[in-house]
Amino acid sequence: MKNLGILLSGRGSNFEAIAHNLLSGSIPARIAVVVSNRQDAAGLDRARALGIEARCLPSKGKDREAYDRELVATLQSFGVDIVCLAGFMRVLSSTFIRAFPTRILNIHPALLPAFPGLEAQKQALDYGVKFTGCTVHLVDEGVDTGPIIGQAVVPVLDGDTVESLSARILKEEHRIYSEAVRLVVEERIRVEGRRVRVTS
Ligand code: GRF
Repeated sequence: MKNLGILLSGRGSNFEAIAHNLLSGSIPARIAVVVSNRQDAAGLDRARALGIEARCLPSKGKDREAYDRELVATLQSFGVDIVCLAGFMRVLSSTFIRAFPTRILNIHPALLPAFPGLEAQKQALDYGVKFTGCTVHLVDEGVDTGPIIGQAVVPVLDGDTVESLSARILKEEHRIYSEAVRLVVEERIRVEGRRVRVTS
């Protein structure tokens, strides 16, 4: 049984979607701990409501390396094998990345490499694309640059606002993130350069 560690900074709906899929037994893993860098993250309450261990490690004012070492130590103390970033609003240092090689996943609300970074849904609307979507990828030292595990395409409709588009994308995020977690848990992904191959 693999142990997942979830890192989040806010609402935690992606965490919750993964948690429901794990609790329903459709992914052979457990969430060992949820860690937030923000005390006020709603995701911490959502975790506690599900009976999942939830910790706050405040990052404010801390040196990146020192913070990441603290984070690694916490995750390792819970026996975490796979790390899922679920709205974690920090860039991880190489110290962190090296501690969990090819076992850190992130979800981004755009079709990477388009619209990396913050406010991806607004970036897509402002650009005027007709389709956008979401991407689950392995995390490397860049911002939203790691090898892609899965993507889903979402149309941009004429009347869309950032809110309506974000909601349409979020539904797909919840679906593809759990799918990607399953592939990693079942050790079915092989990374060849930038390409991620799925084995059966
Ligand atoms: C999602 O849109 C995700 O793609 C992005 O941050 C948001 C987190 O939402 N990385 P939630 O906290 O999972 O509800």
